[in-house]
Amino acid sequence: MSIIQWTDEYVTGDAVVDKQHRALFAMVNALHTAIVERRAKEAMGDILNALERYVVQHFDAERRLMESTNYPDMESHVLLHRALEDKARDVIEEYREGRLVLGVTLSQFLGKWLQEHILIQDKKMIDWVKNHRGAADGSGSFRTGTNDIQGESTSRLQFAQAVEGEPSAYATGESDLKTGKG
Ligand SMILES: [Fe+2]
Repeated sequence: MSIIQWTDEYVTGDAVVDKQHRALFAMVNALHTAIVERRAKEAMGDILNALERYVVQHFDAERRLMESTNYPDMESHVLLHRALEDKARDVIEEYREGRLVLGVTLSQFLGKWLQEHILIQDKKMIDWVKNHRGAADGSGSFRTGTNDIQGESTSRLQFAQAVEGEPSAYATGESDLKTGKG
């Protein structure tokens, strides 16, 4: 069950960032499915945990890209990331403590946020990065994997693909949502 659909309009042109964005689309759709199907708390916790960890790592990868190219709007971009992280953390904590029932407003909010953020903020940022890559730090070396989600990319993508069709495939056995801050 999808609430957001990946189309070419979301392509920023940075292969690594695009791969991560696609994974985030899949994970938000998986969360939406879990909410609609009223998945059990433990399964929901796994999804939220994985999504939160992936988001934190993805934002970190984007921050490194901005840093290495001296992106002028880095501060405001990072603040937008932080606001989402804070909100997500609050939601997860309230859910864990049983003070919140997850509804589709959460997946709708995340989907909308992601779509708008990519179309407006990330596209602008990646345009800058493409034009300043290798210039700012003189090394030009961050294509060698430093902006990838290290060692996680493939497994998370597999996760993201798996959750589309097979809900039981992503159980990680981690129940503590607070331990996953990368
Ligand atoms: Fe971003």
